[in-house]
Amino acid sequence: MSEFIPVLTKEEIEVQVSLIAQRISTDYKDRELILIGILKGAFIFLSDLIRQLSIPVKVDFMCVSSYGDNTSSSGRIKLTKDVDIEIKNKDILIVEDIVDTGLTLSYLVDYLKSSGAASVRICTLIDKRERRETDVTADYACHTVEKGFLVGYGLDYAEFYRNLPEVYHLKL
Ligand code: IMP
Repeated sequence: MSEFIPVLTKEEIEVQVSLIAQRISTDYKDRELILIGILKGAFIFLSDLIRQLSIPVKVDFMCVSSYGDNTSSSGRIKLTKDVDIEIKNKDILIVEDIVDTGLTLSYLVDYLKSSGAASVRICTLIDKRERRETDVTADYACHTVEKGFLVGYGLDYAEFYRNLPEVYHLKL
């Protein structure tokens, strides 16, 4: 039987999202910010986050697949949906569900910088430390864990559990 160990309640997520939104609103005041949500995992986090921002922003999405199995990425990353709006000379904030090895974000940061973005920062719901393989660091993180496979609030296991309103550590 799978076990679901609570990591973040609805209320905790709400508080953290609101605090991060305040920081982003202050840091990007008077700048033209573009949020790029990474599909599919970031769709719930992004939709809550943008509604807490007090600055004007544009939103776009990218989709990457990483040829992994269900619980780890292989590092071989393929871009399956690029941004549609112009990012040249713009400030970009990547919104991700979780940073694990960091390989996906390392690829995305390099890609966006080489496409001419003025700056690229990272905002993640979960910063998971143990398996980091790159020097990618999250500029904004709602919650940090050392390890474990998490589901809920956008995070999936084999495409399930994204709809759970809380975040759980899934023990298979
Ligand atoms: P990375 O390239 O290893 O940092 O992996 C990032 C991607 O792997 C995330 O965007 C997720 O799609 C997936 N991932 C990594 N850890 C977890 C987890 O604990 N739960 C759900 N998905 C995860």
